[in-house]
Amino acid sequence: MNILVTGGAGFIGSHTVVALTEAGFRPVILDDFSNSEQGVLDGLEQIMGSKPIIYAENCHNRETLRRIIREEKIEGVIHFAAFKAVGESMQKPLEYYDNNLGSLIVLLQTMLECGVSNLIFSSSCTVYGEPDILPVTEETPVQPASSVYGNTKQIGEEILCDTVAAGNTLKIISLRYFNPIGAHPSAAIGELPRGVPGNLIPFITQTAAGQRASLTIFGHDYPTPDGTCIRDYIHVLDLAEAHVAALQFLLKKDIDNYYDVFNIGTGEGVSVMQLVKTFEQVSGQALNYKLGPRRSGDVTAVYADVQKSAEQLGWKAKRSVQQALADAWRWQQAIAQKTR
Ligand code: UFG
Repeated sequence: MNILVTGGAGFIGSHTVVALTEAGFRPVILDDFSNSEQGVLDGLEQIMGSKPIIYAENCHNRETLRRIIREEKIEGVIHFAAFKAVGESMQKPLEYYDNNLGSLIVLLQTMLECGVSNLIFSSSCTVYGEPDILPVTEETPVQPASSVYGNTKQIGEEILCDTVAAGNTLKIISLRYFNPIGAHPSAAIGELPRGVPGNLIPFITQTAAGQRASLTIFGHDYPTPDGTCIRDYIHVLDLAEAHVAALQFLLKKDIDNYYDVFNIGTGEGVSVMQLVKTFEQVSGQALNYKLGPRRSGDVTAVYADVQKSAEQLGWKAKRSVQQALADAWRWQQAIAQKTR
């Protein structure tokens, strides 16, 4: 079965291409490389044993989508393609709304026009904001978004819900990702941030590799056991497999019209300090870090209740944080080798 993977050259997208292939699907990547590198295609070929199918184009274009859906006889779509930098989204709101929501609308219209029913949408735990009760279930109220990026995910979910509610043949799942980390254990693909990484793990691995002088831990006076923020860090391969499980669930579903949301995390909360210490153990290296002020917009703690995805999708995260950090570190060392 042919599955269109928009943003399939990105961090989560590329790992999902591997998981889809392993599950017997034929992924077709659509990616304009605006925030990914061509080298990921070599990595995918190394892992999968054959060249990935790739359309190096922008997914906001109706003609492009129509052509690929028809040429490749697409039966399902996983829509990753989106801008994702929280800080940048506040500087460039129109670019974010246009890219993240414009492409979603055009995609839905084209799916309806071409008779493609199944869609998996990349949402985020950012929709829960600062939750009152932990872990967060899918029933936990959505809070007003604190960034334009977060708002594109919330509005994206609303667009999907409203479209399905209007009555048509669309079957859609939004996956609310917690914090994806790690890399493929082969070190052939992984996270490739451009410039100074905004996320914790690439910052840690680049610091350990000597590319950055030191990590700053943003805030150590939070009301948590060690004063640092708590997140639910999930191995990117577990996250990739969640997409396959969600897709298989949609394909088996015998009703035409369906929309639902699922948390995709491990269910475990880990603090920034715990993560730093675990990285030191796993890598056998002391990490140069300092305690700094809070970063604006960060929530204190968020981690997932994963019962719904386990019960309905039959999916659970299998890999440990140790494994994810070991894979992220192996990947960092592989990139250093390549660029040396
Ligand atoms: N952190 C540091 N130092 C750094 C980078 C991060 O201490 O150099 C801390 C942050 O303060 C936070 C934790 O590490 O406590 C995780 O930060 P990330 O930036 O890796 O991840 P976030 O939880 O902030 O962001 C994630 C996703 C976003 C999403 C957001 C919603 O990456 O896409 O959750 O909360 F919008």
